[in-house]
Amino acid sequence: MQLVTEDNITELAEQRWATAKDPRTAQLMTALVRHLHDFAREVRLTEAEWMAAIRWLTATGQISDEKREEFILASDVLGLSMLIVQMNHRFDPAATPATVLGPFHIDGSPELGFGGDMSDDVPGTPLYLTGTVRSLDGAPVPGAVLDVWQADADGAYEAQLDVDEARLRAKYRAEADGSYCVRTITPKGYSIPMDGPVGDLIAQTEISHFRPAHVHFLVTADGFEPLITHLFEEGAEYLDSDVVFGTKQELVVRFEPREPGPTPGGGTSAVPWVEARFDFVLQPCAPH
Ligand code: BEZ
Ligand code: FE
Repeated sequence: MQLVTEDNITELAEQRWATAKDPRTAQLMTALVRHLHDFAREVRLTEAEWMAAIRWLTATGQISDEKREEFILASDVLGLSMLIVQMNHRFDPAATPATVLGPFHIDGSPELGFGGDMSDDVPGTPLYLTGTVRSLDGAPVPGAVLDVWQADADGAYEAQLDVDEARLRAKYRAEADGSYCVRTITPKGYSIPMDGPVGDLIAQTEISHFRPAHVHFLVTADGFEPLITHLFEEGAEYLDSDVVFGTKQELVVRFEPREPGPTPGGGTSAVPWVEARFDFVLQPCAPH
């Protein structure tokens, strides 16, 4: 009979999980067991604390559904999402850096033409995001798809609202010269959802629960690594304290105020509007 002691249980558990048929699963599970046991030993985890953690995990699952992704939020505020992004997207320094996807991306956004308005009648200051999509060598990437989404002026994403139509999200296609033009509204900084288990934990700390004003992009094109990123407004509040660690200096852009009149995309604005310019540089796929 195998005698289990406090000293040998980690080794025994690792041996068991090393039998996983897939070698990568075996590697992941044995490392997980080792680190979990080390954690419990280091903090001398009590039974009450472990039960509280299990209750927290249960609540995190229970509040989640196809629209609310509380585990993604947990991973984001722990800095784990951003660590994994950085390890897995070591792009050329000249390429646009990747950041977190976040929990609010919705697949299947409608496609709009150059300068098409993704804000419809959502109130806000008109914002034109313009620029190009290019390769590392500067060549335009015609046909690149820019999947764009953002929160409204109250910090709410479509995924958090009960709406039937696409709201503040759309897909755009780069033109033959690589240029794109997105018409939306200026984003505002917002709080991550604080009414769930992640918020309960954050509220017990001095951590700011806000994100700086940003617009999300997922840029895809044949032959290039998909780029999940954001553009942040220069000078926005919370740039230095983003609760999900998603900010990068290269992604901060100036929002230039403009007077009523002609806008990019061939339109005219009767009200003051804002222009921000950014060139996306895509990383070519690694050769197989
Ligand atoms: C977001 O920007 O949509 C977001 C990212 C991570 C956590 C919460 C929100
Ligand atoms: Fe966001």
